Amino acid sequence: MANDSLLFLILASLLLSGFFTKTSSAFSIEEASIDDLRLAFKQNQLTSRQLVEFYLKRIGRLNPLLRGVIEVNPDALFLADKADRERKVNTPGSSGGLHGIPILLKDNIATKDKLNTTAGSYALLGSVVPRDAGVVMKLRKAGAIILGKASLSEWSYFRSNGAPSGFCGRSGQGKNPYVLSAGPCGSSSGSAISVAANFVAVSLGTETDGSILCPSNANSVVGIKPTVGLTSRAGVIPISPRQDSVGPICRTVSDAVIVLDAIVGVDYNDGATQEASKYIPHGGYKQFLKPYGLKGKRLGIVRNPFLGFASKAESKAFEHHLQTLRQGGSVIVDHLEIANINAIFNSTGSGEGTLLLAEFKISLNAYLKDLVASPVRTLADVIAFNRKFAELEKINEFGQDIFLLAQATNGIGNIEKAALINLAKLTRDGFQKLMWYYKLDAVVTPGAGFSPVLAIGGFPGINVPAGYDDKGVPFGISFGGLKGTEPKLIQIAFGFEQATRIRKPPTFKA
Ligand SMILES: *[C@@H]1O[C@H](CO)[C@@H](O)[C@H](O)[C@H]1NC(C)=O
Ligand SMILES: *[C@@H]1O[C@H](CO)[C@@H](O)[C@H](O)[C@H]1NC(C)=O
Repeated sequence: MANDSLLFLILASLLLSGFFTKTSSAFSIEEASIDDLRLAFKQNQLTSRQLVEFYLKRIGRLNPLLRGVIEVNPDALFLADKADRERKVNTPGSSGGLHGIPILLKDNIATKDKLNTTAGSYALLGSVVPRDAGVVMKLRKAGAIILGKASLSEWSYFRSNGAPSGFCGRSGQGKNPYVLSAGPCGSSSGSAISVAANFVAVSLGTETDGSILCPSNANSVVGIKPTVGLTSRAGVIPISPRQDSVGPICRTVSDAVIVLDAIVGVDYNDGATQEASKYIPHGGYKQFLKPYGLKGKRLGIVRNPFLGFASKAESKAFEHHLQTLRQGGSVIVDHLEIANINAIFNSTGSGEGTLLLAEFKISLNAYLKDLVASPVRTLADVIAFNRKFAELEKINEFGQDIFLLAQATNGIGNIEKAALINLAKLTRDGFQKLMWYYKLDAVVTPGAGFSPVLAIGGFPGINVPAGYDDKGVPFGISFGGLKGTEPKLIQIAFGFEQATRIRKPPTFKA
């Protein structure tokens, strides 16, 4: 009897210590990073087929609750088998990049395969894209498996102000996997939900103003919004070529940087990539995932108004994080002001709102015109479709007010030109002046509220998990810098992540 209970105790403690899960059972896919997956491939503990099967099963089980995925790729298992064969015979490139790693794409990123590209709207269901988006061409070249399309705030949250963030007609309301009632933020909601919930290894989102940083912040994952033009926007359902940027949303800074390395660079279908390619460091971004990345960095703290947006738990955590950043060797330059911050935040007054409306109409019409086939060919067609199928798209409930305002614009006229000049001035006199005057490497803010400052200048930002409030709702911290400063931002974000290691998997609380 005594012996039996001793044996029981030993078994129980072995179970609790994870002895069996680590040694006797197969490799654990949940929470695995790209480096973990590559190692497991190499040691023959895992195949891409097993990985894809795991994700498909998990999507099948949890997506009806979370609605992070709109479509899965019917060819995903075929592509996984192909990757497994290539690794077996050591095909060149099969040991690096994203070879055999599944990725989900926000549903505004075009793929020339069996998947639809719809920005979440029924209006584009059945449309045929002319080619893969520029970033998708690069992902395929790096060996990634396109697992499917992630949900989003429909049309990247440019249809109506009345719709809740994370809603789209085709998959309904996306849910925050930590606290289902908390809201996932958008517009790259499904990308963030899906990596947080282990539906996939890594994902891509897009940002015009906050659409990568905010969902990353809300779902306790890492988002990188690159300098505009660093990643190609060709084949991406647009809002504004001046502000749109495609970037990774992943569980770790390291994973996000591996994906970033795969998608940056020149694409002849997006002219801005040629200009921005000068920022790409020789040898890529992975070299900046080094210890001591916080050392010697000058970090500016702009409390007003960003601490005002923060909850009590978030503010408390923020003060603690400033200590951590100091301990890592950064110089905290506190209590700074961006002189014209109120003018930047007034999107009507700044001209950002006005300009986006005109740019959206022009660039969406160009995207629709370029399709091989489509039920809609102009913004006017989309508006008419929404009226006709109001029920499918919840038009009576959520409206399409932004569409109507955009449709009423008439190109880049005098008002838009004045807005362009004003936005450039706001950036010069505000963020840029602050960065130069105090010789800062980055500005650090709680949450994702800094996005308009970055958006109007085409600047990069990274959001990293920073804590959970007393209900378990996640929040992050943002690091923003000047154009092309991704190397510094990556060092800082990685240094912060390694010093804090805050992310934990979600528990799907009500
Ligand atoms: C794409 O949309 C069509 C409807 O037009 C549908 O039949 C098809 O299953 C969709 N593709 C995927 C991969 O879900
Ligand atoms: C924003 O700017 C507009 C136009 O300049 C102005 O009418 C409005 O009062 C401003 N709003 C705020 C809150 O400052």
